[in-house]
Amino acid sequence: MSIDADRLWRRTEALSKITDPDRPWTRRSFTPRFLEGRKWLAAEFHAAGLETTIDAGGNLVGRLAGADPSLKPIMIGSHSDTVPSGGRYDGILGVLAGLEVAQSFIERGDRLRHSLEVYDFLAEEPSEFGLSCIGSRALAGVLSNEMLEMKRPDGMTLREGIQFAGGRPDSLASMRRAADSIAAYVEVHIEQGRVLENEGIAIGVVTDIVGIRRERITVSGRADHAGATPMPLRADALVGAAKLIEAAHERASARSNGPQPLVATFGRIEISPNAANAVPGEAVLTLEVRSGNEAAVKAFGDALVRELTPALAELRLGVRSEPISHVPPTACAPAVCSAIATAAASLGLSTRELPSGAGHDGVFVARTGPIGMIFIPCLDGRSHAPEESIEPHQAADGARVLAETVRLLDATLG
Ligand code: GLV
Ligand code: MN
Ligand code: MN
Repeated sequence: MSIDADRLWRRTEALSKITDPDRPWTRRSFTPRFLEGRKWLAAEFHAAGLETTIDAGGNLVGRLAGADPSLKPIMIGSHSDTVPSGGRYDGILGVLAGLEVAQSFIERGDRLRHSLEVYDFLAEEPSEFGLSCIGSRALAGVLSNEMLEMKRPDGMTLREGIQFAGGRPDSLASMRRAADSIAAYVEVHIEQGRVLENEGIAIGVVTDIVGIRRERITVSGRADHAGATPMPLRADALVGAAKLIEAAHERASARSNGPQPLVATFGRIEISPNAANAVPGEAVLTLEVRSGNEAAVKAFGDALVRELTPALAELRLGVRSEPISHVPPTACAPAVCSAIATAAASLGLSTRELPSGAGHDGVFVARTGPIGMIFIPCLDGRSHAPEESIEPHQAADGARVLAETVRLLDATLG
C-alpha cells in the first residue's frame, strides 16, 4: 500500500505555517487562526474526495464510505490545535497522515469494507476554557453541561466556543458514540520523548496512555505594600507557592524511575495583585500529575497539600486544592497494537512497544472501541516547544504504517 510522501510533507509544511506570525507554531483552539487552519484542512479533505462535515462537537470529519454498510467505521486522525509556541507537528501529523491514507485508498480504487473516517478532533490541547480533548469527550458523550458552562478569561463559555468552531452544542446527543460502536481508532503522532531516537527505532507501538490529573491549588496570604511591610509581618502567597513547587519537584523526582514513573508539573501560575511593588496576596497554581499508576496520580496532590499545610500556616498562609480534571490511564487494544507491529514489520521498519507520557484523544475514543497509536521519533524528543522537528521520511513512515494497519484491520475486523 503506497502513499504520496511528497504530498504529505507539502501539506504538513503548509498547515504548520498557518500560525500566529509572532510566535510560531501557534494555532490555539477557538481562535480565528484555528478556523483559518480548519478552513484549509476542510478544503483539502473535500478535494481528496472525502464527505466532509463538522459534527455537533466541532470535530472536522472526512468520511470514505465502505463497501459493507453494516460494519462499524475505522477511525483515524488527531488534532490541528496547538499549545502556545509549540505544535509544529504535534497533532497535525496524525490528521494529515489520516488524510493521505484515505486519499491513497481512493486513488488506488481500493475499496475498504469498513467506512474510514478521518478526524481532526476539536481542542485536544488544554484550551483557554481549562479543558482538553473537547471534541473526543463529545464523541464519547462525556462533555457535561457543567463543562459547557466553563468560561475562558474573556467570558466566552465553552458552549459558545463550540459554536464558534462550527459545532452544535445543543445537539451533542446526535453525535455521541456508544461503547463498542467503532471497529478501531488509530492515530499517528510524534513520540514527544527520546526513546525511539536514542534506540534508533523507526516506529513506536503505544501500549498505554498515562493518566492525567489537574488540580487548582490556591495559596492565600495578604497583599501589602512591598516597601512599607517588614519581612516578619508578611503573608506572601508566592513564597508559599514556591515551597509547594519545590516539594512537588522533589517528590516526583523520587518516583521518576521504574516501570510506571510519575511526573508533576506546575505549568501555570497566576498571582495577584501581580505588581512589582505589592506583596503577593494570592497565588493560584495548576498542578498536573501524570503516571500509568492510577493510585499514585490520585494521591499525589492531596498528600502534597496536606503535608505542606503546617509549613504554610507558619508563614500565615492558607492553602486549598480543587480538582480540575482527572483522566485515568488508558490501555491500547492488543489487536490494534499487533496490527501496527505487523504492518511495520511488513514495511521493513523496526518497532518497539512504549507507553505514551503525553495525553491523546484516544483516551476518550477508547470508550467507543479499540484504539492504537503509532509513534515516530522527533528530534531530541523535543515537543510543546518551537524546536519540535521531524524529517519527511519519518512522517512518511508513520503514514505508511497507518495505511497498512488500516488495510489489515479492514481485512480482519468484523
Ligand atoms: C497533550 O499534548 C498533552 O499531553 O498534554
Ligand atoms: Mn500536545
Ligand atoms: Mn498531540
